[in-house]
Amino acid sequence: MKESLENLKNSALQEIRTAGGFNSLEELWRKYLGRNGQLRNFSIKIKDMTPQEKAEMGRLINEVKNILESTINNRKNDLSVADSRQVDDLPDLNLNLTDQTIKLGHLHPHTQMKMRVADIFHSMGWQVLEGPEVENEHYHFDVLNIPANHPARDMWDTFWLNHQPSKNGRLLLRAHTSAMQVRVMEKQKPPLKVCVIGKCYRHEATDARHEHSLYQIEGFVVDKNVSVANLLHTLKTFLHYLFGRDVEVRLRPSYFPFTEPSFELDFSCLRCGGQGCPVCGQSGWVEMLGCGMIHPNVLRAAGYLPAGRQVQPQYTGFAFGIGLDRLVMMRHKVDDIRWFNGGDLRFLRQF
Ligand code: PHE
Repeated sequence: MKESLENLKNSALQEIRTAGGFNSLEELWRKYLGRNGQLRNFSIKIKDMTPQEKAEMGRLINEVKNILESTINNRKNDLSVADSRQVDDLPDLNLNLTDQTIKLGHLHPHTQMKMRVADIFHSMGWQVLEGPEVENEHYHFDVLNIPANHPARDMWDTFWLNHQPSKNGRLLLRAHTSAMQVRVMEKQKPPLKVCVIGKCYRHEATDARHEHSLYQIEGFVVDKNVSVANLLHTLKTFLHYLFGRDVEVRLRPSYFPFTEPSFELDFSCLRCGGQGCPVCGQSGWVEMLGCGMIHPNVLRAAGYLPAGRQVQPQYTGFAFGIGLDRLVMMRHKVDDIRWFNGGDLRFLRQF
């Protein structure tokens, strides 16, 4: 009997020392020390023994009971709160603080560029406007010297709206900000220095350089004796502030119905310094904008010039239209315009 008490003690100690948590220790307590626990069997058995044997076995049983009890208590102490977290039979208590930082977004690269551009024109004393995105044929085409059925209308891939035509013709999503020129001229008298920054829409197949939704920056000036020299100086000044250095530009003849003469303005590639690289198609020049001297028919539509051809124009003006997306692409070396509206945060978080 002594031997089996000794065996019980050893196996109980072994189990207690390797117990993983409080619940298993409670269970071991019940198994060995509880009312129906294994030690109790020994106490029952000693009833039939001689008083001497009874006393000795009783002492031994008590000894084992004390040892098991104190070992269980020690083991409980050892299981610190931190340890108990890993114990599978305890509820999962995670005392770590969760990450409480609030993730702030930031302005879209388009918006950042819009603000920069607006700042530059403001500093030159220009008005900065937005204008309606839903336009009508009158301001978008007719007054810009693009009559109905004129093939030049095909230069703008227009989204037409299914809407009752107004007295100003059918409605459309503006494909260029030039639609604001006569709107402003009708309301204000020269001298005018106006910049329009706004969204435009084009019904065209998208690729790395073309999007259906894009931002344009329109600039126009109307005053006495405005010349191409003023146009060039304005654009060079704008580019200088925008890129923080002097940028070389060149004018190429072009065609727009609402400017005469019309030009494309290129600037020397900022990436390769004009040596030729993939961004500029090895030419050293990057196409940036369309511009020209405002056509007399546009000034006439605005009521600035008397009707009839023979009259010497009193006012002249220049106008230009820049793709804002292009500027952002140049500044940040973005290789595909579709990134901007793609909604991929991995792209947007870089700005
Ligand atoms: N509106 C023209 C376009 O969208 C650009 C332009 C603006 C050209 C002003 C000349 C003058 O292509």
